[in-house]
Amino acid sequence: MAQTQPGTGTSRRAFLRDVGITGGAGAMLATMGALGMAPTAQAAQREKPFRAPSAGDFTLHGRAAAKVVVVGGGIAGLASAYELGKAGYDCTVLEARDRAGGRNFTVRGGDSTVDLYGNRQTARFAEGQYMNAGPGRIPQWMVTLDYCRELGVPLEVFTNTNADAYIFNESAGMSEPMRYRTAKADVYGYVSELLAKATDKGALDKELTTADQDRLTEFLKDFGELGDKMTYEGGDRRGYRTVPAATGTPGVPLGDVPSASEVFASGVGRYFSFEFGFDQAMLMFQPVGGMDRIPQALTRAIGAHKVRTGAAVTRITDKGHGVTVTYTQGGRTRSIDADFCIGALPPNILAKVPHNLGPGVQRALEAITPQSAGKIGLEYRSRWWELDHRIYGGITETDMDVSHIWHPSHGFHGERGLLVGYYNYDKDADTYAALTPKEREKRAVAAGVKIYGEKYRSELASSFSHHWRQTPYLEAAWHDTPGGPDDPRYGPLNEPTGRVYFAGDWLSYTDAWQHGAFTSARRAISKLHARVLAA
Ligand code: PHE
Repeated sequence: MAQTQPGTGTSRRAFLRDVGITGGAGAMLATMGALGMAPTAQAAQREKPFRAPSAGDFTLHGRAAAKVVVVGGGIAGLASAYELGKAGYDCTVLEARDRAGGRNFTVRGGDSTVDLYGNRQTARFAEGQYMNAGPGRIPQWMVTLDYCRELGVPLEVFTNTNADAYIFNESAGMSEPMRYRTAKADVYGYVSELLAKATDKGALDKELTTADQDRLTEFLKDFGELGDKMTYEGGDRRGYRTVPAATGTPGVPLGDVPSASEVFASGVGRYFSFEFGFDQAMLMFQPVGGMDRIPQALTRAIGAHKVRTGAAVTRITDKGHGVTVTYTQGGRTRSIDADFCIGALPPNILAKVPHNLGPGVQRALEAITPQSAGKIGLEYRSRWWELDHRIYGGITETDMDVSHIWHPSHGFHGERGLLVGYYNYDKDADTYAALTPKEREKRAVAAGVKIYGEKYRSELASSFSHHWRQTPYLEAAWHDTPGGPDDPRYGPLNEPTGRVYFAGDWLSYTDAWQHGAFTSARRAISKLHARVLAA
């Protein structure tokens, strides 16, 4: 969940100094004016808008931009180098993998991976087909969209919920899938009927006046599509066997309205609240062509020569007057000296890198635990889900170990298409990770056939699976941070330790979102920049 960073007792003077530093003297005066020359403590604690460091910041201060080595070329590392680069900092990004982006990884035909179990895969996807193995959806309020705008990354809608996608709860005995719209009609219908009955029987007399009870009843009648007797008997919200068309074709509604007991026993309602989430509500967005358009654009903006791939960090040494980072690249050991370092690796990986930053840092890193998630991309020769099932994007929810099945939100009516055949977490992800890629495909397809029928198998062209806990140099999909990122035990990570700053989604209230990586990077580099200007 996104929350404003709680105020940490920023003093009025520090606030104005910060505004002066990042916004220039003009911004400071404007701010003082807006605040009536007297910033209150409350105003001081309001979240400050981010302002990127700029070369002009140095002219007043008579200081020079520093040299910064950024360890980790995921979104936090790239964003750090990108923002510092705007002010002329000399940044080098060290990335252990052969591509920047970290968990922002889009798999296309020809891409190869080897996981920690030794499974080697090469994607055989046709031209234009891809799977976002990591992040795949962006809410409107996240800063990730601001970077897309700034960097010129085109966007399209990502369909996170679709009335025509399916729900399939095998353990509840469902023999065929149910459309979301049907499940919603039934669940909302019976919930409304029951609440209307309770109201009618006087169960809410203590809570509501008669007038309010009438208003509630009126709402429920509409919300649940209740009949004149205030009972739910189905209706056209459930959908049709034959859809309405021209004169003479009024449509044949889906019959067989289940009883209230059957509806609750099926458990179909348990997925509805997902779309109420602050971070999962429609509309959502994705970059056109793949999520990795974002790290690609960041890398271009930083300067590709400053992002060294295949460079695995082996030691971080704070020398008091500077930082030395050693790394291996192409079998050779190299090192970089810099004024500052930004540690933008996942905490579980950083914890394995020798350093002299002290036991507080190490304890904090080790308290944060890596979590599992995996996806399989199933490429199909035809878009049968559009043709046969009339599903254009959105997610099918299941209680099987594949969990979520994603339909593509782009390329409608194209020849081929790619489903995410599973997106699962925790134990389910580990279960699939332990299989060979071929076995993963077989198991995922067997689950999908139960929902969609034989074409789920017969139209399959190729597959590619990816598991983050088993991915070298990342070893996590996201992280569990006991107590939250502001817990005092993470102080040595949230404040610079010597000349080393830390950044990552794992140091944010939006873990498992690029927004967390971007905002954490902004926070770290703002502190670094203020220090350089104040030195
Ligand atoms: N951001 C990831 C996703 O949208 C992980 C996540 C899932 C985060 C659900 C919050 C809620 O899939």
